[in-house]
Amino acid sequence: MESLIGLVNRIQRACTALGDHGDAEESGVGLPTLWEALPSVVVVGGQQSSGKSSVLESIVGRDFLPRGSGIVTRRPLVLQLHKVDEGKVEHAEFLHLPRRRFTDFSLVRKEIVDETERLTGKTKQISTHPIHLSIYSPNVVNLTLIDLPGLTKVAVEGQPDNIVQDIETMVRSYVDKPNCIILAISPANQDIATSDAMKLAKEVDPTGERTFGVLTKLDLMDKGTNALDVLEGRSYRLQHPWVGVVNRSQADINKNVDMIVARIKEREYFATSPDYSHLASRMGSEYLAKLLSKHLESVIRSRIPSITSLINKTIDELEAEMNHLGRPVAVDAGAQLYTILEMCRAFDRVFKEHLDGGRPGGDR
Ligand code: GDP
Ligand code: NA
Ligand code: MG
Repeated sequence: MESLIGLVNRIQRACTALGDHGDAEESGVGLPTLWEALPSVVVVGGQQSSGKSSVLESIVGRDFLPRGSGIVTRRPLVLQLHKVDEGKVEHAEFLHLPRRRFTDFSLVRKEIVDETERLTGKTKQISTHPIHLSIYSPNVVNLTLIDLPGLTKVAVEGQPDNIVQDIETMVRSYVDKPNCIILAISPANQDIATSDAMKLAKEVDPTGERTFGVLTKLDLMDKGTNALDVLEGRSYRLQHPWVGVVNRSQADINKNVDMIVARIKEREYFATSPDYSHLASRMGSEYLAKLLSKHLESVIRSRIPSITSLINKTIDELEAEMNHLGRPVAVDAGAQLYTILEMCRAFDRVFKEHLDGGRPGGDR
């Protein structure tokens, strides 16, 4: 049976294809905002260089994100990771290019840049319309992450002044949702009290029940200091354990150090660190990915009843709309409604199978 995360991935892609991505006004056929009801992991980083891109690439085991100074991420990137069997070809696909299979990840990077500019122009504006990227690889766990522009305080040259506010509005529209799991990235070589990501997380999730704190750059702390107060939850208490990571340094990136090699080096760093070896089994990007995958799966499972009731509401609305149009309906409108209706019915069936404890075809 399809994994719950895979199933939610399909609904998210369908919502985006239909123009429903959490922005009710834009949703074409009066669909309730299904997207809103779907649990998701949203990556939030603050001041430039918190290590946000590095953490994402580490989780994927590939470098594929656009680099550069200024605000590089200017559209939400919905990153859907699909674990495939060992030996299968690692590849990527974009929702907007359904027939193209990318095996060269430098072309994935280029396509993200091109597709961002297609909507925002080169004006450095941002857009709330997401790019969907699926990666199929033996080196990932099933997981969906939404990468958003980094919170920033000042527009850089050539970027419009309102961009700072626009980014904050966009990030808030995601993290405000009670179904949003916040992955808050902060660098260890700066005071956690000044982390923009943690400030925002504290505001929207004061009890810390849906925030996962990630501390990057442990290797860059001043000699003689360590991050145990943060990692052991004394500086900033969250319901979930903090995870420390060590990403590739700029020198590693310049030398093109392979991401899988970097994961191994990261594991060695924790295993041999005098400060952190007692935490080694709960540190690092691979552990982080597994932790998030398990958590996302369990949150989705707990939300199945509310998701299926939304889907059923959608089905009712669509049926009413089709009846109202009468038969025969205009080919275009009718065919699209019918496709959505069939899709919703199929989602409803699969969710019910999961509720039935995974017995395929289980009837209720
Ligand atoms: P972003 O702006 O938040 O997306 O940050 P990036 O992931 O692009 O990282 C910015 C810079 O910090 C790059 O030069 C990375 O190599 C470096 N960096 C990120 N994380 C670490 C880390 O854990 N250790 C070291 N040494 N460098 C890191
Ligand atoms: Na931060
Ligand atoms: Mg970045």
